[in-house]
Amino acid sequence: MIKLAPSLLSADFVRLGEHVAEIEEAGAHYLHLDVMDGSFVPNISFGLPIITALRPHSKLVFDAHLMIERPERYIEAFAEAGADIINVHVEACENPLRAVRMIRGLGKKAGLTVKPGTPVSAVLGCLEEIDLVLVMSVEPGFSGQRFMPECLYKAEEIARIIYTRGLSLELEMDGGLHLGNVRQAVSAGVDVVVAGSAVFGAHNVGGAVREFLNGFEGGSRVSTQIGDGIFDSLP
Ligand code: DX5
Ligand code: ZN
Repeated sequence: MIKLAPSLLSADFVRLGEHVAEIEEAGAHYLHLDVMDGSFVPNISFGLPIITALRPHSKLVFDAHLMIERPERYIEAFAEAGADIINVHVEACENPLRAVRMIRGLGKKAGLTVKPGTPVSAVLGCLEEIDLVLVMSVEPGFSGQRFMPECLYKAEEIARIIYTRGLSLELEMDGGLHLGNVRQAVSAGVDVVVAGSAVFGAHNVGGAVREFLNGFEGGSRVSTQIGDGIFDSLP
């Protein structure tokens, strides 16, 4: 099953509660929460108080994407605030393996995230100890950027390794995804699709979620999907 993780960063911040209820009602799976520190990325978004405030109002899986330097310092706080999945950037951790062990030690799912320029090799040593790999398909920092199709190669490479090693990791892609290119991501083996502006920028937010989910129907992951001609459709 392909999952949809709308990114709250693109929501109307005056109506956060309403927007979260709307995507949940429409069938979204995760709520993607982009936390930015103004140092690891050149932008500041929101943090712990927003997650704590939303937690009692939603049963969605809270998928925290920590774009912060040395995230180890805050893992416990995000776990307490109600994150179910905690994604840390491999580039931001002093010791990625220690960070993911810390996350799992708190009973949460651990994700490792790679920026567009970071090679697959950066996460290879950790795959057995994580629940999710998050492949960025834009430079982290802002929503509404253009999708970088070259990141599909990396997603496909990771999907192959997950498959070959018999792991049950999820592969998530984040940045610039919309109805027009999401099939390429799914064909590359992505099974969690993050969408910010394509969901919350839509006139009808619930309708946008349903359109994504309809588009996923019939899509399954890995063996039959990988390499099903995606490269022919790349520019
Ligand atoms: C970028 C964030 C993304 C972003 C997605 O740093 O990690 O989650 O909000 O927004 P869109 O889908 O508009 O690129
Ligand atoms: Zn994100």
